[in-house]
Amino acid sequence: MNISSIRKNYLKDHLNEQEAGDDPIALFGNWLDDAVKSGVCEPTAMVLSTISPEGYPSSRVVLLKGLDNGRLHFYTNYTSNKGRHLNENPRASLLFFWGELERQVRFEGAVTKLPAADSDEYFLSRPYESRIGALVSRQSSVVVGREDLDREFARLFERMKSNQEEIIRPEYWGGYALDPLSVEFWQGRANRLHDRLRYTMTKNNWVRERLSP
Ligand SMILES: Cc1cc2nc3c(=O)[nH]c(=O)nc-3n(C[C@H](O)[C@H](O)[C@H](O)COP(=O)(O)O)c2cc1C
Repeated sequence: MNISSIRKNYLKDHLNEQEAGDDPIALFGNWLDDAVKSGVCEPTAMVLSTISPEGYPSSRVVLLKGLDNGRLHFYTNYTSNKGRHLNENPRASLLFFWGELERQVRFEGAVTKLPAADSDEYFLSRPYESRIGALVSRQSSVVVGREDLDREFARLFERMKSNQEEIIRPEYWGGYALDPLSVEFWQGRANRLHDRLRYTMTKNNWVRERLSP
């Protein structure tokens, strides 16, 4: 297969300053709504990039679980690789790519842990089996084999069920919020002349600029 010949012309939509408005969080909310309504696979999936202590960028997909006061929430294991990176360097980027809509949104900003009460509440809202999964997984550590995970899951499931124990959040699992300092919207256009609008937080206000594609 000749992958260099794969080419797509983007013709679906456009993004102009007037329609975009002054508030990138409001615009993001509208684009997220569009993504959910259009039925794209995992519309809340976003690529989280962190920096390792050695200075290497590291990316993985996580799910957006809340948008509150302009801050983006996600949940994970605090002792995972990303958790350790954020401990040392609490800055990250989040990227959404909605191919079917020919759109990308990029956030950059500072990351803080959510209050324990918020993580408790979200953890309890998760399905029973997912909560057991969080207890079983020491995310990002090496495991001998798949069987070990399945065995531990079955053991905990039986124990919890027979004791009728409620599964509460382990302290190594919880949420983060990214507070954006910049947000960039990309809408694919014809002839590679895409629309890019970037909002940068400057003296407590969003400043909007158009970027060359
Ligand atoms: C669609 C999708 C959704 C995911 N959602 C999450 C999530 O919300 N939280 C999470 O910790 N990992 C999630 N993952 C798994 C991560 O991509 C990653 O494998 C894991 O968090 C370990 O990353 P790390 O070793 O860099 O810390 C998701 C993966 C995919 C493909």
